[in-house]
Amino acid sequence: AAPVVVAIDGPAGSGKSTVSRAVAARLGLSFLDTGAMYRAMTWWMLANEVDVQDADAVAIACGKPVIVSGTDAAGPTITVDGQDVSGPIRSQEVTSQVSAVAAVPQVRARLVELQRGCAEVAERGIVAEGRDMGSVVFPEATAKIFLTASEAARAERRAAELRAKGVDAATITAMAADLARRDAADSSRETAPLVQAADAVLVDTSDLTLEQVIDRIAGLVEEKA
Ligand code: C5P
Repeated sequence: AAPVVVAIDGPAGSGKSTVSRAVAARLGLSFLDTGAMYRAMTWWMLANEVDVQDADAVAIACGKPVIVSGTDAAGPTITVDGQDVSGPIRSQEVTSQVSAVAAVPQVRARLVELQRGCAEVAERGIVAEGRDMGSVVFPEATAKIFLTASEAARAERRAAELRAKGVDAATITAMAADLARRDAADSSRETAPLVQAADAVLVDTSDLTLEQVIDRIAGLVEEKA
């Protein structure tokens, strides 16, 4: 049988990462967080003083960093030139700049190639999450899921996460605005915008528990595999 590829796309804060990792663990598949790769590229650009608003500069530089993604659902890691950047890629600075870097076609071409390579070497198959998994990277995926949640549910989940980390209310408000800006940028860019693939199944997580979402997706995959 062809290796299983589960493509999971959706906006920031839809619960994608948590859900994708849990589905991979449940089904015994590898896991690929493609957002982490765009973040790693952005982290490298910032560390090397590349002006991330200058698409030409980003296009020229993006071939330089060696980005390696771990695909273990139990603890995915990501390295740039051998350095583990799993922590730094979650910084507010990287988060606020990543959409600009991700909009550059040369960046996407390079990372898409790496993403397909990860799927090829995954022994039992892979759950890949991002914005264009079903629409561009894995058009032949076994199952395609588009995760959404109402604006309110997404904002509330993000806020709860941040509160749990001890982040203050003003910062939470600022980050919510940033999230909306990032979703708008990701959805409106020319190359591989965030879009539901024609053959993707829409799962609205607003009123579902994590367990219900995992059951639903695992069920869809088992139906199709
Ligand atoms: O998933 P995460 O929020 O970590 O993704 C960070 C950013 O990476 C997104 O806002 C988007 O700009 C970019 N991205 C993308 N295509 C993907 C995954 C992420 O453009 N497949």
